[in-house]
Amino acid sequence: MSFSQYFDLLPSQIAFLDDVVAGLNSNPKQIAPKYFYDKRGCSLFEDICNLPEYYPTRTELSIMAENATAMADWIGKGGTLIEIGCGNSHKSRLLLEELQPTEFVALDIAVEQLKSSCDALAQEFPKIKIVALRADFEEAPAIPAEAGISAAPRALYFPGSTIGNFTPTAAREFLSRWAPVLGAGSYALIGVDMKKDRALLEAAYNDANGVTASFNQNLLSRLNRELRADFDETAFRHWAFYNAEEGRIEMHLKSLCLQIVSLGGARIEFSANETIRTEISCKYSIAEFQELGRAAGYLPQTFWTDSKNMFAVHLFKLPPNLATP
Ligand code: AVJ
Repeated sequence: MSFSQYFDLLPSQIAFLDDVVAGLNSNPKQIAPKYFYDKRGCSLFEDICNLPEYYPTRTELSIMAENATAMADWIGKGGTLIEIGCGNSHKSRLLLEELQPTEFVALDIAVEQLKSSCDALAQEFPKIKIVALRADFEEAPAIPAEAGISAAPRALYFPGSTIGNFTPTAAREFLSRWAPVLGAGSYALIGVDMKKDRALLEAAYNDANGVTASFNQNLLSRLNRELRADFDETAFRHWAFYNAEEGRIEMHLKSLCLQIVSLGGARIEFSANETIRTEISCKYSIAEFQELGRAAGYLPQTFWTDSKNMFAVHLFKLPPNLATP
């Protein structure tokens, strides 16, 4: 391990089990998308990012490649960069090269990928102090004091439209929780997928090779393995569609028959065609997302898009005085 420090702030497997059981006992049934990312889930997600139908990754990368210099001009060189949901950190590189922060804090829920990304970055950017934090970033955890990370202002990078996994209300609450962690005067750079033609959106989540379907179904094999559940993986089918009223893609696993699944002592009944909602992926116009940021106390500064307005990278700034909640 060649990066500076590693902290594991993730709650236990017991919390994982409790959360999944609560989600399966609720109506409609749901499981949070953060649970997709076991080792195989991370690798399937990387495959998704390279699919011809999945436009967000390559579009966001091109926006970063074209505008990273301008982004660094806004944010200013040096300082502390915090990235949440860093994944394979391909996009972070472009920003790190331009920003040259003195400290980089990477947060992700998937430990192996987090460590290997930080290792690679440490090799490439030997001057930057790199701290890896395994955490559920929705909770906006305080950075452990032992990490010795400088105080505000800090810059936040939240790429990939991962913020779309939250409902607009949850996204606003999430940004509000992060504000005091970042501190007054901090910048936030957020990658957001845009509303567009239904056919393009639905194709991105229903690829011809079934990689997205495998990614969705892998959740069941993870629950079987890690939580000793007894899902029959062949008795559920991937289902993804654009919910236009809510402005979001929804992914579900649909039960093909009446069946009972047990996990952690709970017995969960599924009727035929009943679903587990495993992910939402909210899409925003520029104005909608700027308004969401404003409602969370972040001031829109500017944004960058591609020529087809498929994807946007928004820049916000926290005011010099944070309102105390
Ligand atoms: C990583 C949450 C942005 O919603 O597009 C890709 C995950 N799910 N294909 C998305 C995902 C199915 C992705 N995010």
